[in-house]
Amino acid sequence: MTDSSYLTSHDGLTLPAVGFGTYQLKGEAGVGSILDAIDVGYRLLDSAFNYENEGTVGEAVRRTGVPREELIVTSKLPGRHHAYELATQSIAESVFRTGLGYLDLHLIHWPNPKVGKYMEAWRAMIDAREAGLVRHIGVCNFEPEHLETLMAETGVLPSVNQIEVHPYFPNLEAIAWNRDHGIITEGWSPLGRGTQLLQEPVIVGIAERLGSDPAAVVLAWHRAHGVLPLPKSGNRERQLANLATSLVLSDDDLTQIATLARPDGRTTGQDPLTWEEF
Ligand SMILES: NC(=O)c1ccc[n+]([C@@H]2O[C@H](COP(=O)([O-])OP(=O)(O)OC[C@H]3O[C@@H](n4cnc5c(N)ncnc54)[C@H](OP(=O)(O)O)[C@@H]3O)[C@@H](O)[C@H]2O)c1
Repeated sequence: MTDSSYLTSHDGLTLPAVGFGTYQLKGEAGVGSILDAIDVGYRLLDSAFNYENEGTVGEAVRRTGVPREELIVTSKLPGRHHAYELATQSIAESVFRTGLGYLDLHLIHWPNPKVGKYMEAWRAMIDAREAGLVRHIGVCNFEPEHLETLMAETGVLPSVNQIEVHPYFPNLEAIAWNRDHGIITEGWSPLGRGTQLLQEPVIVGIAERLGSDPAAVVLAWHRAHGVLPLPKSGNRERQLANLATSLVLSDDDLTQIATLARPDGRTTGQDPLTWEEF
């Protein structure tokens, strides 16, 4: 990596330092919010089959004046479609829903290890990439043991692993594993869903000292750990604030923020080793 505003994976996928989360952005209002996000500068859009908004994202991409090739449109394969044939159909359906002809990045949404079919899903993803339906493939919520299995059985590692990351749940071991294997870590719920995290005295204190705002401090913490955060906001001003990437934290700031980590820090308690999402 030579430019701190971009991250590059082992297979040459280059992504911007911040992406845009779209969970709950749907319909005409959702298109408007996504158009605002593109207008203020976001180029990576994160969607999912299960968010039921691939059509909304696709519509915004068609309406914006930003050239298609400058945008990275992401979606995700749901757990109920892991079996190979279902996965193959599901990926095509996601592409149809966007109306864009291809996806830039498609991710397996959850490993669902108790079901044990994520290898079938991964083979369908590899084949969809070869068929040109998706340009790059990756996963979400995969622990190192799941990634080892992908590697052992197919020799293909994901370009991206999108996992829960925020100061309450830093997930540093998973980030390090991804980094050591050239996998870009995207951070979901990077602002801890905009709840108590942004009122934490540690975060507010650093923001006041730096003349910044709490969300910007949290997103600078992500960058300091080499994570690409995906903040969601339906509000243009907050979208813009979340995109400001110039703030740099000191080692002392990072040490203070590290005190917020806690064993039960996941926002919704979804442990990928046991969580089943269909
Ligand atoms: N792969 C997965 O399993 C997975 C799971 C969860 C999420 N995700 C992805 O990650 C994205 C982000 O996660 P998330 O939506 O759960 O949570 P988030 O981005 O951590 O937080 C979003 C919340 O924070 C508020 N917010 C945004 N910017 C703010 C700011 N500058 N100041 C104060 N509040 C602010 C938003 O409200 P306003 O909209 O009113 O600004 C919204 O309520 C999702 O949209 C989705 O794309 C993936």
